[in-house]
Amino acid sequence: MDKKPIGVFDSGYGGLTVLKEIIGLLPEYDFIYLGDNARSPYGNRSFDTVYAYTRESVEWFFRQGCPLVILACNTASAKALRTIQQKDLPGHYDEKRVLGVIRPTTEVVGKYSKTGEVGILATLGTVQSNTYPIEIAKFFPELKVYQEACPMWVPLVENNEYQSPGADYFIKQHIDRLMARSPDIDTILLGCTHYPLLINKIKQFLPTGITLLSQGEIVAHGLQDYLSRHPEIDEKCSRNGHYSFFTTDSSEDFDAHAASFFGKAVKSGHLSL
Ligand code: DGL
Repeated sequence: MDKKPIGVFDSGYGGLTVLKEIIGLLPEYDFIYLGDNARSPYGNRSFDTVYAYTRESVEWFFRQGCPLVILACNTASAKALRTIQQKDLPGHYDEKRVLGVIRPTTEVVGKYSKTGEVGILATLGTVQSNTYPIEIAKFFPELKVYQEACPMWVPLVENNEYQSPGADYFIKQHIDRLMARSPDIDTILLGCTHYPLLINKIKQFLPTGITLLSQGEIVAHGLQDYLSRHPEIDEKCSRNGHYSFFTTDSSEDFDAHAASFFGKAVKSGHLSL
């Protein structure tokens, strides 16, 4: 059988924070990463646009032979995944699978809270889709979920301005707004794969005693579990420990910024979708 890498997709760099954790857990698998940096951020875009962009990227992965694609982007998972799974795969790509980052997160988030109140920090698109409250209610119906959209955070990260004093204003603003909704929030989920880069700044403005969750490890364990439960997909995934990177924008820029997300230097190729 012709085995192929697992595809990992994000609107830009954020998915690298997830890929890093996946590789930490499953280093033997091969992965192709694609960042649609030329069209990022996705967070403020309409459903139709996020769906169209995500579908194009998924089809590119399928042309590379990937049997499985992970949307390592909450916005794409919230706005495009269901349509891709329900409309695009059946009858066209019956053998392929596309998974997102929201489901594995919602399966566990309630376990971290003692008060039964959690906050979600995410892009406007993810918040407006209401996917988190809807999905969390399936696993933790009693859990109270408060969402806060942080539209400036991805641009700050993508433009490498997140360590500037200007960034502090926007980071504090959204933390304060979220915490003002309820003093009993004891767990906050970073519902955007770019946000782990902001973790030190976020901690600086958070009241003490709050558990801060980022998704990388959760998604990595979710993928490991999925592969063990789906041997028919697992056997199609190649395992040479080979990782390749592509961007729809400048590969020089991508390589210059990717290390802060991925933890080490990468060499990417450019592609036009
Ligand atoms: N990393 C994407 C997410 O998780 C960022 C979305 C964007 O491009 O705005 O939502």
